[in-house]
Amino acid sequence: NMIAIITGSGVYELSGLSVIERIDATSPFGPPSDRIVKCDLEGRTVMFLPRHGSSHTIPPHRVNYRANIWALKELGVERIISVSAVGGINRDFAPGSIVLADQILDFTKSRISTFYDGDDVVHVDFTTPFCEDMRNIISGAAEAEGIELITRGTYVAVEGPRLETAAEIGFYRSAGADVVGMTAMPEAVLAREAELCYAGIYVVTNYAAGIRDGRLTTDEVVVTMRRADETIKRLLAAGIEPLDGERRCACGNALDNARL
Ligand code: HPA
Repeated sequence: NMIAIITGSGVYELSGLSVIERIDATSPFGPPSDRIVKCDLEGRTVMFLPRHGSSHTIPPHRVNYRANIWALKELGVERIISVSAVGGINRDFAPGSIVLADQILDFTKSRISTFYDGDDVVHVDFTTPFCEDMRNIISGAAEAEGIELITRGTYVAVEGPRLETAAEIGFYRSAGADVVGMTAMPEAVLAREAELCYAGIYVVTNYAAGIRDGRLTTDEVVVTMRRADETIKRLLAAGIEPLDGERRCACGNALDNARL
């Protein structure tokens, strides 16, 4: 029951992880975003994968999501934690906040979002897109450690790579979105189709377009992400031990009764 950490913008390594081995993984869809780093985090083995590559050369719409999820599963991963930057739509989610999202609105447009693209027709249940057991464990760990964490929120996934218009953000807000990002989809649904547990820890790096005046910069994203590094490390360290047990959630049987 191995855990993997997939990171987004501004996080290409994590302090507190010591490298055991760098693995050149492959998949039927081509190679994953980078070599997968087998690491030690406080005595436990975790797999680490920077989604955009270790020198950030892959934009969100070109990430090979299928290769990443497939390769992690092949390596024995059962649980995935995504640590990624998001824009804040809900004004209560100020820059610097850390959010454990519980819902998704998918507004991506041109991504392959399934492993079942052929004549094996699967409709996987996605009522709760994030593993509820992982969410409970991570929020429990945060509470025990006194780490401030917003324990629910709706993530709207957009195509990018451009940022949003003010009108788009207004629309997402009226639809109930709290944060906006470019990568949770199709990553979360591919994890579900692969019967892996998936949780998203989102660092609000900026207010989204039109929520605050002025234009957004990528510097802002990277700087806020760096600032959150210490808290994220503490949160992962606290969560990793209780996440080590056998899975009791339904994620591992997601394909039961999902085939036509
Ligand atoms: N929009 C979309 N994705 C993001 C943002 C944003 O404002 N900030 C960080 N990722």
